Amino acid sequence: MTGLRPALLDAVGALPEAVNPFALSLNECPFPPLPAVRSAMVTSIDAANRYPEFLPQRLRSLIASRVGVGEEQVVIGVGATGAIMQVLHAVTSPGDTIVMSAPTFDGYPIFAQMARLRSVTVPLDVHGHHDLDAMADAAARARVVVVCRPHNPTGTIETAADIERFLTRVPEDTVVLLDEAYVEFLAPEHRIDAPSLVDRFGNVVVVRTFSKAYGLAGLRIGYGFCAAELGRSLWRMQLPFGIGLTALVAVAASYDSESQLRQRIRVIAAERRFLRTRLRAKGIYSTDGHANFVYLPAASTPWRNVFDDTGLQVRHYADGGVRITVGSRSSTRAVLRAVTAALD
Ligand SMILES: Cc1ncc(COP(=O)(O)O)c(C=O)c1O
Repeated sequence: MTGLRPALLDAVGALPEAVNPFALSLNECPFPPLPAVRSAMVTSIDAANRYPEFLPQRLRSLIASRVGVGEEQVVIGVGATGAIMQVLHAVTSPGDTIVMSAPTFDGYPIFAQMARLRSVTVPLDVHGHHDLDAMADAAARARVVVVCRPHNPTGTIETAADIERFLTRVPEDTVVLLDEAYVEFLAPEHRIDAPSLVDRFGNVVVVRTFSKAYGLAGLRIGYGFCAAELGRSLWRMQLPFGIGLTALVAVAASYDSESQLRQRIRVIAAERRFLRTRLRAKGIYSTDGHANFVYLPAASTPWRNVFDDTGLQVRHYADGGVRITVGSRSSTRAVLRAVTAALD
């Protein structure tokens, strides 16, 4: 036994804190799991001597019925990250081209490298929107094109009409990854009917996650859905025993707790509006964000000077912009304190 205890103490000590108002760099949910979700997860741990399903069919079927698509249209990933890699492995060969905006979610350049793809980047406009025309032009010579809605890091959304126009311009043999990692934060009037979209465009894969609004980033559960034909070929890449036992019960319990989750989402959206309003009152512009973060483009005072040494963890970008995850009111106060101290 000696020797094990320090390792265990180390491991437990290395767990991130569930509640940490200063952890604002990864767009996580600021709240610990809901009690019902927590107790479902604990129950699953009691059966940890057993394998999960060979392929995650129950989870697939549960998600498919919630989303409103057929189960053959859904694949399950180790986070959205896993689902995206599954798509890239299934539809690309090394040397193929992937088109993405710049900046975009940090994962995409890494995924492209892992799949040995050539990345072509298209700059966002000054307000953080995709240049969908330029992306469609580039997609004509690419195997995959990525659009995030809401976008990360800017939180912006393109209209449903603009997305449709873009899709009609992209060749049928170019796969479109429509990344909806933050879709649950969208107001109903901004949602796209994604199941109908994948019915009409056989080359679109919509990617979602339980890491953000559902607050289960540590469990690593994500999924993609698309037309049945493409779905069947993606499912062939589904890793045997690849999704842990806890995922199914955590998702089922989360779906059962939908009204509490929706309340949490409302709180985060209200906090985002409050933070943006207070920043605007100080003359600070932020992009029109629809997710659980706020993006401040580069300004005359470098954002590093504002946030370094405050203890706040935020995400800085090469072009000088900064992305701040929306947390609790104490997070908001800490951000405003940092800004006031540096700029007033
Ligand atoms: C746009 C976008 N897509 C995908 C992901 C990956 O999420 P997951 O934790 O499900 O792998 C993230 C995470 O930050 C993201 O911002």
